[in-house]
Amino acid sequence: MLNIAVFASGRGSNFEALQRTLSEKNIPAAIVTVISNNSSSGVLALARSFNIPAFHISQRQFSDEGSYRKKILETLSTFGVNFIVLAGYMKKLDAEIIRAYPQRIINIHPALLPKFGGAGMYGMNVHAAVIAAGEKESGATVHYVNEQYDDGGIIAQERVTIASTDTAESLAAKVLTIEHRLLPEVVRQFSATIKD
Ligand code: GRF
Repeated sequence: MLNIAVFASGRGSNFEALQRTLSEKNIPAAIVTVISNNSSSGVLALARSFNIPAFHISQRQFSDEGSYRKKILETLSTFGVNFIVLAGYMKKLDAEIIRAYPQRIINIHPALLPKFGGAGMYGMNVHAAVIAAGEKESGATVHYVNEQYDDGGIIAQERVTIASTDTAESLAAKVLTIEHRLLPEVVRQFSATIKD
């Protein structure tokens, strides 16, 4: 059984798509907690509406890195987390947390990595850069998380065609539709292979 922690900073549509798919398709995986670094993020309220324990944990609440990291690790351990999904999490995960979950942390990125990834490539910046580069296609990537931004091994990608009339906003909407399918599908595959 996968006991998943979702880390997110924003509205949480990927969290919601994952939560709905897991329960509707009877996948042996559950989101057991949600952690956000942003107290006003929609994802916290959304998670609570599904009765999922959701926490605002931000570095600013702690005087040092170590206690911040300890709080996150303790929360993960309290809920028996054995798999982590980053879904729009705008903060780099601490290296010790990454090392505590080897090959068990994935991220969804709204472009075809390795293109359009790295520092500063988040949210609408990604889609604006793709449009500005005159790309003919974009898509979504699910990848393992390592200590660099958007750099871990690619697990799955799905593509969309970019029309000449597309804007960053219309492209974001197209890619989001794909994200909502791709992320749950990848988690389903992990749930079939990870048995602990
Ligand atoms: C998604 O586009 C995701 O790929 C990116 O951040 C966005 C989060 O959207 N990493 P939401 O909060 O899941 O709606």
